[in-house]
Amino acid sequence: AKLWEIPEDAVTWEGGEIRPAGDNAGKFKPMTLADVAKVAGKTGGSIVGVGTGSTANFFIDALGAMRDRIAGAVASSEASAARLCALGIPLLDLNDVTDMPVYVDGADEVTSQLAMIKGGGGALTREKIVGAVARTFVCIADGSKLVATLGRFPLPVEVIPMARAHVARALEALGGRPVLRAGFKTDNGNVILDVHGLSITDPVALETHIDGITGVVTVGLFARRPADILLLGGPDGVAEHRRPGAGLP
Ligand code: 5RP
Repeated sequence: AKLWEIPEDAVTWEGGEIRPAGDNAGKFKPMTLADVAKVAGKTGGSIVGVGTGSTANFFIDALGAMRDRIAGAVASSEASAARLCALGIPLLDLNDVTDMPVYVDGADEVTSQLAMIKGGGGALTREKIVGAVARTFVCIADGSKLVATLGRFPLPVEVIPMARAHVARALEALGGRPVLRAGFKTDNGNVILDVHGLSITDPVALETHIDGITGVVTVGLFARRPADILLLGGPDGVAEHRRPGAGLP
């Protein structure tokens, strides 16, 4: 099991820290919980940006345990908004937020430079928008997400439906093999092309190039604005990587 996939009833909030609940002590590494608690705890009193996916869900559940201590959350998807609501966490409209100290989200792939591929769950556009507003972007991921070169995970590209074929041709010209994500519409009513076969040696340049193709809404490369902090789960606990100068608020 991935370190971050810990059932919500397995944890409790006690004395300012998230701890294993009931018989769960020993079933997972306390370090994992401590690191989630660190991120959640540092958000005290502030507005928190919340990502999407199975890893982000664990963070949402941790926030639920301290909902009285945050001002509210901005969600990066309808799914995360529903989960936040179910936990009684006040939801805020991003347009009403002028300062967001921290955004916490998972990734499909991440490099040691903290550039990421995101969008496996299809929420890449809203994730990039909320991440852009946040002062600190914290990526939480298990060790399997760390790669030397991005691209083994198919690169998601959100596209305006009428531009699908045009964008697909442009992505093929880059050497990729775009595949329409079948039966899927984003929260914004668009389609996703998952681009296979890319070896992304210059993620900043590729992000700029693909974002410039007419009809593309967002490419799931997060390199121009990478994560500031990466909390990477592994068999011995959670390793923390920071970009120079990055700190939790
Ligand atoms: C959703 C995302 C997720 O962060 C990414 O897909 C990782 O998901 P998970 O934590 O379930 O592995 O970008 O659009």
